[in-house]
Amino acid sequence: MADIGNEIAIAKALLEEGKLVAIPTETVYGLAGNALNEEAVTEIYLAKNRPYFDPLIVHVGSVEAVSDYVEEIPRQASELMRRFWPGPLTILLPKKSIVPDLVTAGLDRVGIRCPDHPLTLQLLKKLSFPLAAPSANPFGYVSPTNPAHVNEQLGNKIDYILDGGECKVGVESTIVGFENGNSIVYRVGGLSVEDIESVIGKVIVNTHSDSNPQAPGQLTSHYAPGKPLLLGNIQQLYSQHKNKSMAVLSYRDEYELANVRTQIVLSPSGNLDEAARKLFSALRELDKLDVEMILTEEVPDIGLGRAINDRLRRASNKS
Ligand code: TXA
Ligand code: MG
Repeated sequence: MADIGNEIAIAKALLEEGKLVAIPTETVYGLAGNALNEEAVTEIYLAKNRPYFDPLIVHVGSVEAVSDYVEEIPRQASELMRRFWPGPLTILLPKKSIVPDLVTAGLDRVGIRCPDHPLTLQLLKKLSFPLAAPSANPFGYVSPTNPAHVNEQLGNKIDYILDGGECKVGVESTIVGFENGNSIVYRVGGLSVEDIESVIGKVIVNTHSDSNPQAPGQLTSHYAPGKPLLLGNIQQLYSQHKNKSMAVLSYRDEYELANVRTQIVLSPSGNLDEAARKLFSALRELDKLDVEMILTEEVPDIGLGRAINDRLRRASNKS
């Protein structure tokens, strides 16, 4: 198992040696390595069992640092950075050659973001290189939102977990890019589409491509727990599967279901931010139970509800 602690100096020394460290962010924990060191980046892909066609996000400590790694920053991008960084927003920009092709899986654009977590921001400011960091989970599984989640799955593959507590947003960053003058959201996430549109106007949400994904977070079966997750009307699903053992993950209501022993309600008060924060922990908890399936339902498709529904749909799709 990895050491867990809040020593920035330890994290810094390991990263400078080319080793991997799990880092806290406001969205989910990341599995970080020196983004400019191909060997460290290779270790990230290996530790996650992640295919090399799925590019990594590069994390920087400030808006100013971005110009070291990208050729050009369009006006909409700089408006978004100024308004929402540090924060749960990744922007795709044309990369400079200093960023290894391995990081971007050969694509011309690099995904770049400045995470909003005090420990990781301090760490980034002390390092002379940016950090490549995908979510710190095996490829295709639910992202981790606390150090214990990371340790359970990747603890034997990394040296240190920088402990920044529970992630306060709980779903991955929103990914935005620009094509032919249009602003496109490739992954809905911790920054709402409404917030983005309030700064740069209408965006196109394009998260449904299955073949040749621009952002493989778009793959239909992703973020998935090991158990079948059935998404729909919980009462109806329950009647259809009454003879099976099951657990329930609901948005705000607790259901009266005779055979169900475990139910998690994401937000009894109907707060979508709270629901997002709890989502991945809840999926992990239910996944560990001795039940045959998990029943769940969509939440209102606004604000962070879009990101929640996106993750639930992908997690319920086993194709
Ligand atoms: O909130 C987050 O974004 C977290 C924290 C750790 O920052 N990171 C994260 O990374 O979710 P990951 O690797 O699990 O998901 C990143 C997604 C992937 O689906 C990847 O394909 C896409 O971003 N992506 C990264 N760079 C890209 C690029 N250059 N072009 C297109 N998609 C890219
Ligand atoms: Mg991920």
